[in-house]
This record gives sequence, structure tokens and C-alpha cells, in this order.
Amino acid sequence: MEKRGLFVLLVAALSLQASPQRVETENITAVAPDGKAAAREVVLTGRLTTRGNSDLRQLRDLCFRMERLDMGAASCPHVPENALHSRHRLKEVVLPRDVKSIGRQAFFACDSLLTLTLPASLDTVGESAFARCGRLERLVVEGSPRMGAFAFSGCGALREVEVRSAVPPPVAPTAFEGVDRRKCRLSVPRGAERLYRTAPGWRLFYEDEKQPFRLCRPADCLVPAVEVLETDFAAVPLTVKRPWRIEAAAGLENEARQARRLLDARGTGRGAGREVRLRLRLDAALNGEEEYVLTVTQEGVDIAGATAAGVFYGLMTLDQLLRADGASLCCDALPALRIADAPRTRVRELMVDPARIFIPFEELKAFVPEMARYKLNALHLHLVDDQAWRIEIKSYPRLTELGSRRTGMDDMLMPVSGFYTQEQMRELVAFAARYHVQVIPEIEMPGHEVAAIHCYPQLTCGGREIPLRTTCGVSDELLCPGEEFVYEFLGNVFRELADVFPSPYVHLGGDEAGNPALGCWTDCEKCRQLKRRLGILTDDRSENWRLQEYLFGRVIDTLRTRHGKVPMFWYETDFKRIPEGCVTFAWRHGLTAAAIDAAVANRAKIMLCPGEHCYLDYPMRAGDMPEVNWGMPVTSLRSTYALDPSWGRDGDFERDNLFGVAGTLWSECINSPERIYYQAYPRALALAEVGWSSRNRRSWEGFLRRLRPLLLDMQRRGVAHSRAE
Ligand code: ACM
Ligand code: ZN
Repeated sequence: MEKRGLFVLLVAALSLQASPQRVETENITAVAPDGKAAAREVVLTGRLTTRGNSDLRQLRDLCFRMERLDMGAASCPHVPENALHSRHRLKEVVLPRDVKSIGRQAFFACDSLLTLTLPASLDTVGESAFARCGRLERLVVEGSPRMGAFAFSGCGALREVEVRSAVPPPVAPTAFEGVDRRKCRLSVPRGAERLYRTAPGWRLFYEDEKQPFRLCRPADCLVPAVEVLETDFAAVPLTVKRPWRIEAAAGLENEARQARRLLDARGTGRGAGREVRLRLRLDAALNGEEEYVLTVTQEGVDIAGATAAGVFYGLMTLDQLLRADGASLCCDALPALRIADAPRTRVRELMVDPARIFIPFEELKAFVPEMARYKLNALHLHLVDDQAWRIEIKSYPRLTELGSRRTGMDDMLMPVSGFYTQEQMRELVAFAARYHVQVIPEIEMPGHEVAAIHCYPQLTCGGREIPLRTTCGVSDELLCPGEEFVYEFLGNVFRELADVFPSPYVHLGGDEAGNPALGCWTDCEKCRQLKRRLGILTDDRSENWRLQEYLFGRVIDTLRTRHGKVPMFWYETDFKRIPEGCVTFAWRHGLTAAAIDAAVANRAKIMLCPGEHCYLDYPMRAGDMPEVNWGMPVTSLRSTYALDPSWGRDGDFERDNLFGVAGTLWSECINSPERIYYQAYPRALALAEVGWSSRNRRSWEGFLRRLRPLLLDMQRRGVAHSRAE
């Protein structure tokens, strides 16, 4: 052990000498790509750019080893929103000499920063600008900047805040929320303390904030909107800051634990007085699987569900009621009320993509409780693609040995490595089940499979050796439908997956393998033989779709007969025939109507995730992250909200064919876990309402009104999200 440590140190020391660690330049944009990738210390002296592929974007996304950033001699009056969002290695930053404003979430979760000085030139610090800088110990404020909501919230390691202004800077009451005044000293100029003691945002350094009494207004705080809400403001309300007693029926042990978790997280039990009773029960009279009825009286709360899932959703609604307007972690009282609620669609999904940029296991797990708050109930894992294979397959160890590490994703040259063991996936499945979220794995075929081909070249036509892809876009390299090893391979992969993932669904990809046309299959002798055997005589490339259909047919048959799984795939207009019992995903911009027609004609189920509404990896506004991408359009919050899950069809479509709604978070441009949340929210809240709430409960204005407290709560809890307005 010691010898190995010494060896590692030696190698580190040698590589330290060999690489240019310090870069001093006017603009980082002028530095060669490998110089940016190697830099640990960056000193900038020029006028910095802030839009598009700017100095700030390159510092954040390309200088991935950067630990020290000195802009003290540079000019940059406006450090933009998200400038150095979630740069976990950044230990020290010297702000530009002329900085006037720091944008929203500019240094969000820069959790290696130790000290920080806000120079006297600074006028404005944006909302959540330094939120979750969890190691920040010392802050010096030289001037008197205005500080936005939650600017330093979650900076729990702060031990000293030194403010040089004799007049307290105008800061939001929540600017330092979560900072422990017993551990953190506020030092202010001699004689100024009296003013600070009463100033908003600063007085919490002297005494606990006294909040006005808050009664929840249920009509203003629930997303997704509920079906029936009856409130009685004339009745005695239920005061909630008292101890709670949970009474749960047999079979609801998990829900009782969830209830305790959420009540503790809201700090309800801190007050004294008579116990509040929370009753959790099953009610056979309710028939929808996820249906629930929640009743509040002055005595307590009663939640009845058709199933444990229904009870769980009642708890998620209770949590939102307790959060109320979001002005504090928890309100003081709930009015007497009755909520009866059930979802519009069965499956409400988010898809994540650890293939392009790996999502560490604990971060992946942590994504689940946040989705569950909004009654989203499926997590779809895009586990393999051209850039990596991310799931352990015991029959084929090379998949993860050779297929899970590479350098680079487009212009970002960082090493990207990692995979999930089957043990971890079992843990994820069990964890997600506690939140009533099912985990659906996806293994792509016949395209987006370069990682597998890289590890086992006999999977592709001619057995050619293909490197892992390090850029986005579509590869022409496909699995060979004429090669028997392909079927043996997929059979073994799906057998192992079926053992790990209990979900009845498994996603087979199927996208973009014929667009551009399947050149890989035209010159292959095995493919030619297969075509002869199947009597395929055309050579206008329609034959390729028939080969794909053949390959899918064999795999689908195995999945059904051996594993009892329902196959899913991304819809392409050339799949004219959707095999019965499969679920197709409408994803291509502008082609949803064609996909729906095909689903109806084939009596198949369809998941709606049209790019123009549901691709949450796209920027939410022009200029929003990811500022540099492969040409993504904008998916605004309003366009996500505007999705009609029945796409203007009649009730039969909704009853017989509509499977659910899904939002995608492809990760080509998402280079930190915090940025997954940033892309997902608030659009996933719009999607949750699209999938859950019935048409006549929805309105854009109502959604925006109800959204506000949820976003405040996310800020308080340190969950990254894009601006709603
Ligand atoms: C996809 O976006 N390629 C399904
Ligand atoms: Zn072939």
C-alpha cells in the first residue's frame, strides 16, 4: 500500500513537471485545446468575452483541471449567469478588477472554493451565485453589493464573513440562509453592528429570524395541479409545527418511513403541543393505481390510496402543502381541505444519458427523490451509445474494461470514465422503488452501438476495428444483422439485464440507424446472404429497413418469450410496422402525428417525447446553457407546458394508445451532475403537470403562479434550475 502510494506520488510529480500547469494570457480563447485541458492555474489579463463560446464558457467547460483562476488583471464587468457553474475543482478565484455584477448561479456548487473576496467595484451578486459552495470558509465583502436570494445559501462551512461597509449592503433576507450563525462570525466596521443587527439578510447572524405566521394557500402551491381541491378557510386550521404521530396500515411501512423523512426535512416536529395525527391507509373503493384522497382537519391529515403508490403521491402533495408559498421551509398551518387526485397518464418519465458523460452512481441515485416529488414515476437509463458502454455484463467483461473510458466529448477534452456494476443497479432499482419510480434500461441497437463494436469487433459487418466515438452525431457503424454472434450477444446482454431490472419494459433504441442510410450493411457478404435468404430483392435501401425489422423481430421474440418483457423503441417513420405489444417513442421534431398514426394503425402504445416539447437537454432560452452545442433548437418552458399528451386526438387514442410522456436529458453537453438538474428543471415540472393533470385543471398562468414556490424551495434546498421567466 505504502509503496504504491509512493509510486503514485512519483508519477504525479513527474507529470506535474511535464505539463504546463500555469497559463497566463489575455484571453483563454487564444490558448490551444490541450493547453486549456492541462491548465491548473489560469491568469487572465485581457477583456473577457461572455457570450456563446466565450472566455467564460471555455474556462468552465474546457479548463476542467483548473484549480486557481486569477482574473484580477482582466476586465469583465459582468460575470454572466452560470459562468463557472459546478466547477468542483476550483479552489481559488480572483474576480476581475472592474467587476460590477455576478450572474445567477455563476459559482453554484463550486465546492472546493475556500476563500473569496468580493471587490469594492461590485454592485450586484445574483441569486444563488455562490450557493452550495460548501467548503467556503471566509468571505470578504469590500464594498456594498446588492445580493440576491440565496446568494450564499448552503455555504455551511463559512466561519467568517467580513464586511467593510459601514452601511449594511442591501441583501435578500435569504442571502445567507443555511449559514450557521453559531459557527460563523460576522465582522463589520466598528460602530456599524447596530445597523447590521436589524438589516435584512444580516440580522440572522445575530438571532434566529422571526417569520410571520403563514397559512398555506393550497390553490397557489401545487405542481402538478390536482384534480379536486376543496378548501374550508372558515374551519379551524391545522397547526403543523408540532410533533407528528404516523399511523400506517399494514403494507405501508415504506410510506410511513417516507412520511417521517419528509416531515423531518420540513422541520415540522420542532414545536411543542398536542400531536398531529397522520393516517396512511389503503382504500379499496379507490380504483386508479395511483389515485389518492388527502384530507386535512384541525386534528390531522388522512391519506387514503388505492395502492401504496397512491398513498406516496398523497405524501408528495402534503410536502408541497407544508412548503406552501416557499417563503420558508415550512408553513405554520394548513386550512381544512380535501384533495382527490389521480394521474392522466400512466408513465411519466425522465431519461438520463450516462453514456456520453458518466453520472456517478450516488448522483444518479440522488436524482430519483427529486423527480418523485413531482409524481414522475419512471427513470429511463440510456446505458450505452457510440461513446461508452456503462453497465457491467458478466458474459462480456471487455464491454466495461475497454468501453467505459475515453478522453473527450466534442471540444471538452476531459477523461470520461465509469460504469455501473449490476450490484449498483440492483441498489438503484430498490432505492427508486421506495419512491415509486421504476428504472427502465436501454441498450441501443442496431445503431449507437460503437462502444460494443469497439470491444467486440465481430458485432459489426466485416469485423472492423472501430474506436470509441468522442464526438456527438450519428455513426454509420452498426451491428451486423447477418452475424449470428450479434444475436448470441444481445441474448446474453438482455438475459443479464432481465435479472437486474424488474421493470416489465426494456428499451431497444432503434433510432438513427438508417439516417443516413445504412451503408454498413450494403457491402457486407453476411448481410447480402441474409437478404437472399429472406427474399429481399430491392436495392433502394428499403431493404435495410427490412433487415432492421428482422433483427428487431428476433430480439423482441427473445425478450417476450424468455423474459416476459415489453420492448420499447424510438420511432422512425420507416418502421412502418410496430410489432404488437411494443411501446414506441415519438421523439422526432415534427413527426409526432406520423408516429401516432403508426401506433394507432398497429394498436401499439406510444410514449410522447417530441423534441420540440420534451428535449430538456436543449437550451431553455437563447443563450442559456449549453451555450455551445451541436445546433440544438430552444425548448422553452412554455413549449414544454404546451404539450398536449393526446395530440388533439379523441379519447380513444388516449385510452388505447397513449402510454405516457417523457423528457430526455441527453448528456453530450451536460458535464456535471448539477447541470442535469439545471437542464431538467423547471421544464420537468411542466412535463409532470402535462402527464399528471387533466386538461381542464391546467393553465399556463396558473402553472407559473404555482411554480414560484417550488422554485424558491429548490433554491433553498440547493437544487440547480434554469430561470422560469
Ligand atoms: C434520439 O434523440 N436519437 C432518440
Ligand atoms: Zn453485415
